[in-house]
Amino acid sequence: QPGAGEFVPETTDLAELAAAASGCRGCDLYRNAERTVFGAGPATARLVLVGEQPGDQEDRAGEPFVGPAGRLLDRALEEAGIDRGEVYVTNAVKHFKFERAAAGGRRIHKKPARGEVVACRPWLVAELRAVRPEVLVCLGATAAQSLLGPSFRVTAHRGEILHPDAEIPSDPAVVATIHPSAILRGPSEQREEALAGLVADLRVAAGAL
Ligand code: URA
Ligand code: SF4
Repeated sequence: QPGAGEFVPETTDLAELAAAASGCRGCDLYRNAERTVFGAGPATARLVLVGEQPGDQEDRAGEPFVGPAGRLLDRALEEAGIDRGEVYVTNAVKHFKFERAAAGGRRIHKKPARGEVVACRPWLVAELRAVRPEVLVCLGATAAQSLLGPSFRVTAHRGEILHPDAEIPSDPAVVATIHPSAILRGPSEQREEALAGLVADLRVAAGAL
């Protein structure tokens, strides 16, 4: 796969970047998804949140974090005192990767391969060049490993304020935490505790602003 690099225009205008991303063929994931789901939020955001990839509902809507994981994220942000309208929300991979439960059946999320994450990273870097956040939150291992490298372990470093020497535009403080989907997939009796953990990590990020 050629990667997204050749599709990324030299601009820091988010609307221009989003328009260009809608034609990206940097890896094979554009073939089966409905649309490119680019990031959303103000260009002036001081805080950027990065998820994994759009899910079923995001792929239909063309907006990040509008499905079940998005609703849980909204709740966590509110509890952490962060206004979602003031943050820029995006994903490490811009197309939905899925398999069918049966022919014509429900679309089930598939984890993106490392090669797809690397292929899509130029879009994420372009978004960070445009927004230049002070603080960056990686929601889950895919986002964290896209920006911090494949050996990064969220479980070992979640909730820490990191200053990676990775080449991230604007050199933001980085906080890694769990993905809201992991809370939804986990045992229901552990949800409240897991959500409290996500909220605590988001508070750390807000405190670094
Ligand atoms: N999960 C993600 O990582 N991103 C979304 O946009 C939705 C669900
Ligand atoms: Fe391009 Fe990323 Fe979509 Fe692959 S997943 S086609 S690199 S936008």
